[in-house]
Order: sequence, then structure tokens, then C-alpha cells
Amino acid sequence: MNEPSLNDTMRRDDPEVEIKLRPGRFDDFIGQARVRERIELSVAAAKGRNDVLGHLLLVGPPGLGKTTLAHIVADAMGSELRTTSGPVIDKPGDLAGLLTNLERGDVLFIDEIHRLPRTVEEYLYSAMEDYVIDIVIDQGPNARSVRLNLQEFTLIGATTRSGLLTAPLRSRFGLTNRLNYYGLDELTAIALRSARILNVDMEDDGAREIAGRSRGTPRITNNLLRWVRDYAQVRANNRITQDIADQALCMLDIDRYGLDEMDKKILSTMIEKFSGGPVGINSLSVSVGEEPGTIEEVYEPFLIQEGYLKRTPQGRVVTALGYERFGLKAPPASGELFAE
Ligand SMILES: Nc1ncnc2c1ncn2[C@@H]1O[C@H](COP(=O)(O)OP(=O)(O)OP(=O)(O)O)[C@@H](O)[C@H]1O
Ligand SMILES: [Mg+2]
Repeated sequence: MNEPSLNDTMRRDDPEVEIKLRPGRFDDFIGQARVRERIELSVAAAKGRNDVLGHLLLVGPPGLGKTTLAHIVADAMGSELRTTSGPVIDKPGDLAGLLTNLERGDVLFIDEIHRLPRTVEEYLYSAMEDYVIDIVIDQGPNARSVRLNLQEFTLIGATTRSGLLTAPLRSRFGLTNRLNYYGLDELTAIALRSARILNVDMEDDGAREIAGRSRGTPRITNNLLRWVRDYAQVRANNRITQDIADQALCMLDIDRYGLDEMDKKILSTMIEKFSGGPVGINSLSVSVGEEPGTIEEVYEPFLIQEGYLKRTPQGRVVTALGYERFGLKAPPASGELFAE
């Protein structure tokens, strides 16, 4: 791969700060009210019955709080959290090892569950449904299958790409929760909370400036905050005002509207090569050099939410607002002409 871009850097966590900033309880988890309410309710119900919590699938773009929620849930259940990730479990034996070590009520968190090899995934079905796993030992004529009984456990799966999950796996989760991009007020609250934890002196308007440039993503908010803090320390007496936040973020070329490089590439490609659309996902994918599924599940939701892009039966089209972001005026679209 080529040099990591600035945006890549902004999407990564700093492990030390990360632990301090990660909300540890439902009450500290800002936003995603509906998802939070549903999960809290299942947790309360399971605890009330002294039962093991049902399996939970968390779906959503990077940095929106899937891992955070898994930790919060395990903690609220008073359970141990075991963490692993799809690509790490490459043999059924690895999975069997993990599962047989779980105690009743433990939470197994499988990040990037869409990257679990198919051969491993099939073993998960009976584990999730009946808490058993049948493993084949020996090979050739001596091959036989041995059934291992497991303790009741909770699986929490996280994925940025729900489109890649197979139907049998998806159907085994009791509850699927989709996390959406955060609004300006929520991100402002997250920035202020993080500033308090890091002992940073920040005005509300400074927090809002950072929030608006965070691409709807708490992880980016926290990373931008750290940069702005450094800037304020060196250039501004340690106090973050809106003006200081703006100066600091301009110095990093962080987009006013929170768009990252791939967002901009998608929009500008659509405008320049496809006259703003409609364009099919495959042509777009080839032109910007990104997988169709990633465009659909990671980039488009933000662009659509912000009103830069629309999905139509003919394909995607750039909206007038999308043109405006590039200082251009939208050509009158045929659909709009008819509407007038
Ligand atoms: N609702 C929230 N309130 C406050 N902070 C949050 C919230 N959600 C996420 N964060 C912050 O953003 C960081 C990134 O969140 P998290 O690691 O949970 O994202 P993720 O969805 O697991 O991302 P990825 O798909 O990249 O694994 C967290 O460590 C936390 O500090
Ligand atoms: Mg995560």
C-alpha cells in the first residue's frame, strides 16, 4: 500500500489515550439512543432472569462505537469479555479452543466477523444455537466426529460490512443493531467529555468546530481533539476556542465538512467522469479504485446522510449540495426539469 494518508492517521486510535476516552458504561455512551435502549433492555432482562444474554450483532462504519459497546455490555452483565477477530481464527480448531475455554455467561467478541473463514463459520452455527461443537478428529478411515459441549455464552459480532455476512450466520443473532453516523450535537458532547478527561480547556464553540469536521465519527473527534490540544498548547495558551480549532484543523487540511479523501474522490469522480451521474456502483468502483461493497457500506452512507449523494433506481447521482462542495453549480438534472 502507499503511504498512509492523513485521514488514515486520523482514523487510528492511540491505545493509551483510547483507554481513557472509551466510555465504560451505558450512561457515558453518547448518542445512538435507540441502539443503546434496545441493548440496555436486553441486558436488564437477561440479568433479571439470571440468564445468559442472547447473541448480538453490531453493524456500522469504522469508529462509531462497536467495540466500545461490546465492552460496556460485558461489563453490565458482569461477564468476562474475550476478544478476537474474524481473520485471526483461521482453523476450526482455533474456534473450538476459544469456545471450550468460555465459562457460563462469558462474552466472546468477534470483530470483523465478516472475515471469518467459511469453514470456521459453519462450526459457529451449532455453537451459537445449541452450545455444542462437533469436531472431526483424525483423517481418512479413522476420521470421526466428537461432540464438545460448551457453556452458555454470548457472542457479540461486529462488522463494518454486513453485506458480506452469510444469511445463516446473520439469522443466528437474536438482535442486530446498526450504528449510524453521529450528529453534530452528539459529537460536540463527545468532544467536551473527552476534553474533560484529558484536562483540556475548551470552549463549547471549539468543541463544535471539531465535531463538525469529524465525519460523524467519535474516533475522528477524539483524534482531532488531540491535535487541536497540541496546537493550542504551542500557539494559544492551552485554550481551545472556535478560532483556534479552525486554525489547527486548517493546518492539517481537515475538510470543513468532514469529508475525507475517498469521499472527495467519489464525488469528484462522479462529477468529472460521469457528469454527476446516474452512475452504477461497478463503474464507480473501477474509477475510484475501491471495492463496490466498501463504497456502499462505508462511504456512501455518510455522503447520503449529509445530502451530497442520492441513490436512484438508475444509479447514484451527485446532488446540488455535492456540486457546491466543489465550488460548482449543478447542471439541471433531467428529473428536476420534468418536475418543474
Ligand atoms: N457513543 C460514544 N460516546 C463517546 N465516545 C465514543 C462513542 N462511541 C465511540 N466513542 C469513542 O470512539 C472510539 C472508537 O470507537 P470503537 O473503537 O468502539 O469503534 P468501532 O465501531 O469498534 O470501530 P472499528 O470498526 O474501527 O473497530 C472509542 O474508543 C471511544 O473513545
Ligand atoms: Mg472496533
